[in-house]
Amino acid sequence: MKRQESWGTRVGLVLAMAGNAVGLGNFLRFPAQAAQNGGGAFIIPYLISFLLMGIPLLWVEWTIGRNGGKFGHHSTPGMFDVMGKKKWLKYIGVFGLFTNLTVASYYCYIESWSLSYVYHSIVGTFFETKPTEFFPAYIGTTGNNIFAFPQEALFWFLLTLGLNVWILSRGLVKGIEMAAKIGMPLLILFGVILAIRGLTLTTTDTGVVQSPLEGLNFVWEPQFSGLTNPTTWLAAAGQIFFTLSVGMGSIHCYASYVREKDDIALNASSAGWMNEFVEVLLGGSILIPIATAYLGLNMVQAATAGGSGFGIGFLTLPTLFNNWGWFAPIAGAMWFGLLFFAGITSSLAMGQPIMAFLSDEFKFNRNKSAISFGALTLMLGLVCVLFYPGGSFDEFDFWTGTFSLVAFALLEIIAFAFILGIDKGWEELNRGADIKIPTFFKVVIKYVTPVFISIIFIGALIKPSTDWLTAFSNLFSGLGWPFAPESVIGKIFHVGSDKYKWVVDGMFTSDFVKDITRLLLAATFILISYMVYIAWKRKKLEVNK
Ligand code: PHE
Repeated sequence: MKRQESWGTRVGLVLAMAGNAVGLGNFLRFPAQAAQNGGGAFIIPYLISFLLMGIPLLWVEWTIGRNGGKFGHHSTPGMFDVMGKKKWLKYIGVFGLFTNLTVASYYCYIESWSLSYVYHSIVGTFFETKPTEFFPAYIGTTGNNIFAFPQEALFWFLLTLGLNVWILSRGLVKGIEMAAKIGMPLLILFGVILAIRGLTLTTTDTGVVQSPLEGLNFVWEPQFSGLTNPTTWLAAAGQIFFTLSVGMGSIHCYASYVREKDDIALNASSAGWMNEFVEVLLGGSILIPIATAYLGLNMVQAATAGGSGFGIGFLTLPTLFNNWGWFAPIAGAMWFGLLFFAGITSSLAMGQPIMAFLSDEFKFNRNKSAISFGALTLMLGLVCVLFYPGGSFDEFDFWTGTFSLVAFALLEIIAFAFILGIDKGWEELNRGADIKIPTFFKVVIKYVTPVFISIIFIGALIKPSTDWLTAFSNLFSGLGWPFAPESVIGKIFHVGSDKYKWVVDGMFTSDFVKDITRLLLAATFILISYMVYIAWKRKKLEVNK
């Protein structure tokens, strides 16, 4: 049998896993989510979600991954197949390919913005053009159209995809591990420099209106009010999913290259905690404090509207850097360089599962599978790029980067605790472990985490447009449930868009773009399921031969 690929060193493995988790989510999404959900009120639900849901899911995913690797499977369909006797189990694993491919398609686009912004910071573009005008022109949202053909953005997108394909084609150790060993230290260095510069701003500096420390205080001072607000909980748990990369299938994939007898209990915790340090300490100390210093705390909430952090990261921050004179281009290059390194070490983690599936199940060689990943991501990514103004990018983000993660996590934890069986799972997790995980977590994995995720899942399905108490009193007084437009049900039935139409005055509308995007995503899911079906049919033929 062909010798299996595995990680070069333990440091390399932990850095690669941390690189997988540390991404755009840590530096853009986290501060924006925290600011939108009341700063310190967000932090407690966030930390509880990390301990009761994040860490247990990390352990579960590393275990499923290493176990799959033992049987020569490095992508989720095979890993779920070996967890039990049922034939349908492998189809749970379709999620682990679908989310990686579709998230990569829009994630690489953001990653390419940061690469392009490194260039524009260095050449001084933002001294001449206001970032607030540059960005819409760059992505093509200046007109009233649903369609854009942003040439420069396309160029950087292609370049970014090319880089990803190239690194992936070099293999695990020379590609991914190397990228993490270079990218992670640089990213931390850039982050520390920016945080120090930002936090040492004082009101005597030009343009500074408030102490940046007030910004820190806003994020860090715990406020217990958040504990009773379900919306805060939903946002906090959603952020834990995204930032830890759980519910994706990419951690499973990386873990499948861990040798059978090597530790996963400690490694999983190390990578998870490292992500939290980078997120809370660094991610919390750059955007918000700097924006607070120049705009004041009240404006920060406006600048983070939407919760993605794009506005504050790509429009506001480069403008504020201009106050720093000669240091502005360097600060810009460091900020966007940091985003780029954070991004690429994550997008590689989305590519590897696809590569692994093609090479394990269809015997593609490395180059061919890397190029296939690039081509598929390009095809789906083009939809995000060209129909960005019509809302296609946001549809991708919602269905693949938010909803699917929770759905997959729910299925996998049930499969782990009840199909593989918690006892077997626990034993598998602890084999070769360098720490003793408290037995308390066995109960957490079996009951607490699944219930937690189920609540999050149902919450996302039926999130009301009012607060929850009002919603229930509405329901019980016969007025029905007020679905929020951003709840899953609300989205499916286009709640809130009263003029829902595909064509207006002979022009396609964004409702059309959104529906087509959903169909495309559904078709992708079905296609991957079909490929899994074919792959297993072939296996059966081979065995019978
Ligand atoms: N965790 C990454 C981030 O914070 C995103 C990601 C999700 C990466 C899923 C890989 C897989 O940006």
